Amino acid sequence: MKELPIIDSFGRIHTNLRISVTDRCNIRCVYCMPSENVTFRPKHELLRFEEITRLTRIAASMGVNKLRITGGEPLVRAGLSELISQLSSIDGIQDIALTTNGMLLAEQAESLKAAGLRRLNVSLDGLSDEIFFLISRRRGVQRIIDGILRAQQVGFGKIRLNSVIIPGVNDGEIIGLAQFARNHGLELRFIEFMPLNSTGHWEMDQVITGATIRGIVEKSIATLKPVLEADPHQPARDYDYEDGGGRVGFVDSVSEPFCSGCNRLRVTAEGQLRNCLFSDDGWDARALLRNPSSTDDEIRTLIRDCIHAKRAGHGINSFEFVKPQRAMHEIGG
Ligand code: 5AD
Ligand code: SF4
Repeated sequence: MKELPIIDSFGRIHTNLRISVTDRCNIRCVYCMPSENVTFRPKHELLRFEEITRLTRIAASMGVNKLRITGGEPLVRAGLSELISQLSSIDGIQDIALTTNGMLLAEQAESLKAAGLRRLNVSLDGLSDEIFFLISRRRGVQRIIDGILRAQQVGFGKIRLNSVIIPGVNDGEIIGLAQFARNHGLELRFIEFMPLNSTGHWEMDQVITGATIRGIVEKSIATLKPVLEADPHQPARDYDYEDGGGRVGFVDSVSEPFCSGCNRLRVTAEGQLRNCLFSDDGWDARALLRNPSSTDDEIRTLIRDCIHAKRAGHGINSFEFVKPQRAMHEIGG
């Protein structure tokens, strides 16, 4: 790192960059997208691979060392492995992870691994096709399971499942998902449903808290003990099963916000920098990246401006909270 770190006005040092590579998706999860009339951005509006790579190199010069590739669904972006191999050769980047719905994973696991991807998070909210359809409005849960098994075969070690539970829809899957993860050596994280888009309502009664889910897991499977050596920046609280059956975590974004440890900077697929999932403000990196006369220093200043404007927390439980205008697939989750 040659430059000063990316530090906000609360002293949080930003070392983690989340890169959305597309706003498109091959399924339609209810918590992320409207059911129809979704409009996607034309291709020329998306950052090109060399633009993403330059932005990442600049961020790395300021101390960013971890990347996460998101979408939409990142595996629908053509040639993604090529981008990953470009990113993995950047000085200072120690870790590249990917969040995927797994539908295209069986085909791509091998090339992703070869390109230098280290870690995989696969979203899985139910194990039966019926429940999966209620959440994703599409069929094909077996493709995801095949994708996970294929990824294990090609050598992805720590694959993590992410599950969002919506009461009355897939709360009956909690135990099945936990058992599935234990049986396959996967780490599972339950992510609290953030009821903030596609229908335009913010309905707290639709949230089942991580604490409630933890109670269900403990009662039905095994008691849990907190993992003490956890990274202070990670949003999840992890627990080990006391019977030695692995690990389960909880991302309690709604009931227990973790903003004070946030070290994340985001870039949307069309090249806007964002300092929070819940903020509508964007800093236009694409304009600079596409202007032949703009310098790396100007881009560094844009990154600093964006992070300098970061608020203490998302405030989603306060009266003044304003729901973001964009749906989750446009921000990057
Ligand atoms: N609430 C909670 N998690 C969400 N995700 C997307 N939208 C939401 C939401 N409204 C997360 C899910 C999914 C990942 C891509 O983003 O965990 O697996
Ligand atoms: Fe697609 Fe992910 Fe959104 Fe589901 S959550 S619709 S898989 S982008």
